Amino acid sequence: MKTILVTGSSGLVGSEVCVYFANKGYQVHGVDNNQRAVFFGPQGDTRWNQRRLAKIIKDFRHHEADIRDRTGILNLIKEVKPNVIVHTAAQPSHDSAAAIPFDDFDTNAVGTLNMLEAARQFAPEAPFVHMSTNKVYGDAPNKIKLKELETRWDYDDENYEHGIAETFTIDQSKHSLFGASKVAADVMVQEYGRYFNMPTCALRGGCLTGPNHTGVELHGFLSYLVKCNLEGKKYSVFGYKGKQVRDNIHSHDIARFMEAFIDMPCAGEGYNLGGGKNNTCSIIEAFAITEKFSGRKQVYEYVDTNREGDHICYYSDLRKMRSHYPAWNITVSLEETIRQIVEAWKDRVI
Ligand SMILES: NC(=O)c1ccc[n+]([C@@H]2O[C@H](COP(=O)([O-])OP(=O)(O)OC[C@H]3O[C@@H](n4cnc5c(N)ncnc54)[C@H](O)[C@@H]3O)[C@@H](O)[C@H]2O)c1
Repeated sequence: MKTILVTGSSGLVGSEVCVYFANKGYQVHGVDNNQRAVFFGPQGDTRWNQRRLAKIIKDFRHHEADIRDRTGILNLIKEVKPNVIVHTAAQPSHDSAAAIPFDDFDTNAVGTLNMLEAARQFAPEAPFVHMSTNKVYGDAPNKIKLKELETRWDYDDENYEHGIAETFTIDQSKHSLFGASKVAADVMVQEYGRYFNMPTCALRGGCLTGPNHTGVELHGFLSYLVKCNLEGKKYSVFGYKGKQVRDNIHSHDIARFMEAFIDMPCAGEGYNLGGGKNNTCSIIEAFAITEKFSGRKQVYEYVDTNREGDHICYYSDLRKMRSHYPAWNITVSLEETIRQIVEAWKDRVI
């Protein structure tokens, strides 16, 4: 039986990956210490998801480990010797990082190095999939010429007709401390691939979403927006007239891409993993779709100041992923994703 080790297993992406690969017959080891509750308070608590995994995955092994604990991680990988490693644990918030610079860097950059080095020593053949972010591009996408449409911004430059490609600059822009710590991790993941010829890849996520996100104001925008809608709580829109555009990918399609990579890995690759142009929405468009499924009007306020370094318009060019893995594509539409998030929040007991 093949073994997969997933860090951040109680989070959105990690939990999806655990279930997906359990269904493919893998023995699943999850690593999570509920740090999300430390980062975001009780609203970020992911224990409910850990309990869900224990219930639905046969022989699920949970490890209450911290990826910052170098010795602990070395011992864990030595003991489990996984056939596959998926690393999703992170301090995931762009906005939070400035208040916790050491925690952010220790988790995102050093934690990733701990995972890579443990893999190199004890599981060098295991495909190593790392969740990176589109914030590695900093706010450079904001320099692309834009056009203002009725409910959204869009690129006004045919070079970006399909979105942002992996060749886009990561240099000379404002990243937020989060973006910078993720750049360090992303480059290190590529380096372990190129330097040590290990099967690694960094997936530069757009908006990753799905019904099992524990959305909070500072991270997980669609999940949090839907939660506010259902609770009648005021959602704050920060700048850009609420027309800022995100591409949203359901966590199921992320797990499917990881499987494609794991089946045919290469060394040190990077991919822009998002929903692509067809799965984009602006914030005000997201309100309208959510209202359709919840039957409730979104309550919101508009704050003139945008978030520091926030993208005005970002969508991923999926062509590199599609050309390396032609069988992969997006299977869950944005509307279906939001419908699932609405249903999940209705049922959720945290
Ligand atoms: N959700 C998004 O929109 C998005 C976008 C781009 C990139 N990403 C990246 O994808 C990855 C997964 O994101 P997510 O939305 O599933 O995040 P999440 O917060 O839902 O899940 C991350 C999990 O990691 C755990 N964790 C954090 N620090 C840890 C530590 N030191 N030791 C052990 N566990 C720890 C948390 O408790 C949490 O359960 C992250 O690397 C994130 O930066 C996410």
